[in-house]
Amino acid sequence: MQREPLILKIGGSVITDKERPLTIDRESIEAIAQEISEAYREGLRKIVLIHGGGSYGHYVVRNLISSRGEIDEDGFSEVTWWMGELNRELVMRLRGRGLPAVSISTHSIFYERSDGSLGYHLEPIVMMIERELIPVLYGDAIVSGKTRYSILSGDTIAWRLSLELGCKRVLFATNVDGVFDRDPSKPGARLLKELRISSDIVSLDDSSSKYDVTGGMRKKILEGLEPLRRGVRALIFNGRKKGNIYRALKGYEDVGTVVIY
Ligand code: IPE
Repeated sequence: MQREPLILKIGGSVITDKERPLTIDRESIEAIAQEISEAYREGLRKIVLIHGGGSYGHYVVRNLISSRGEIDEDGFSEVTWWMGELNRELVMRLRGRGLPAVSISTHSIFYERSDGSLGYHLEPIVMMIERELIPVLYGDAIVSGKTRYSILSGDTIAWRLSLELGCKRVLFATNVDGVFDRDPSKPGARLLKELRISSDIVSLDDSSSKYDVTGGMRKKILEGLEPLRRGVRALIFNGRKKGNIYRALKGYEDVGTVVIY
């Protein structure tokens, strides 16, 4: 019997078409829904899904910033609308396979306080998990007491929920195979089976640190410092490769890089 819920963050680049604004990757999203439904049917009943923005959220936000320099009221309405549309694309496919997936609009439960800290109301999600429903959240625009509106990434939600829900494992399905020992485009780059952040990323701000975890990947991992320190295990893997999401959900860790403290 599964005790703690499992968190799966699906990168926006895994379910949307990066080349086309506001377009899903139909084949990929169908395959993912299928793999999640297989794992659920085989007994994985406590699960929270979070997806990213991909060519929906990132595209809309980039456009708003370049045309207006900020997210204003109309922009907030626009971002939250399009993220809701992407969310329905996934929830629809899970429901179509008989899964009790429930759309959770992130901007209705998360907000930023004037001191920049993250506020949220998680009670409904906790109660849904107890009932073996599958809450599906997403990176989104949220109201902010500091900057009026800000963007909350799905990664941040995943790490925060792992602490709040007492999870032992957080899975990150991305469009890369995991964490490499150097820039993966460089020759000789090696995929790491395990990354121990307490020793492998020696000094977090040191550019000469042992592992060149660039940009997004580095931030993704460092954001999880607190949950990792408390014993959460993360797995970063390629969600575009067939079977990987199913295997990750079933507990196999050979599909990518395990990140521990
Ligand atoms: C971004 O969420 C949400 C918006 C841009 C509104 P993420 O940061 O989690 O998205 P991906 O996974 O990188 O696409």
